[in-house]
Amino acid sequence: MSRVDTFHPFARVLHWLMSIMVLTMLFVGAGMVTSVEAKHAWLLSIHRPLGITIFILALIRLGFRLTHKAPPLPADMPEWQKLAAHGSHWMLYGLMILMPLIGWGMLSAGNFPVTLWSGFQLPPILPAGPALYAWLREAHRYLAWLFFLTFLAHMGAALMHGLIRRDGVLQSMTGGSND
Ligand code: HEM
Repeated sequence: MSRVDTFHPFARVLHWLMSIMVLTMLFVGAGMVTSVEAKHAWLLSIHRPLGITIFILALIRLGFRLTHKAPPLPADMPEWQKLAAHGSHWMLYGLMILMPLIGWGMLSAGNFPVTLWSGFQLPPILPAGPALYAWLREAHRYLAWLFFLTFLAHMGAALMHGLIRRDGVLQSMTGGSND
């Protein structure tokens, strides 16, 4: 049994917590646009505060990532795979920050209240306008698909490292040992 380089415990806690939160958001979002009336309102009341929490945690996580070195990828990994890994990681950071901002901006543009919980609303971040609302609504939808696909690719790669290559990459995030 050999030890592997692992991410900082704080980074690992944020990683697993946020992966559950993001997956929940994607399903709540999809559920929202396919529901009407009471269920729609209930799902949206979860979607807004959870999305803003993801935004705040993503900023904290990005700050931590930029100031703490990540364990290196295995030296024998092909260059294109390293490039794809780094590209998808930065894409996930970008989406965790951009999606909530677009959601918030979309509601502002639609002149809807951005209520996080009863009695607490966020201020609008964009001027109201139907064309801007429609544009952001489409952007939120297409980026949600991109988020979902990137998430799936990321999970697939993690499983490939953990089950096939068994090279310690998955363990660097679970904190386990590589045997
Ligand atoms: C990580 C953050 C977020 C994710 C992953 C996410 C995901 C989604 C998804 C998958 C949809 C359905 C898209 C579709 O098929 O049309 C959606 C819709 C929506 N989201 Fe988000 N979202 C996030 C953040 C936010 C935030 C912070 C807000 C508002 C403060 C927001 C407001 C909305 C609204 C208003 C809709 C449309 C609801 C409807 O038309 O019924 N989202 N979101």
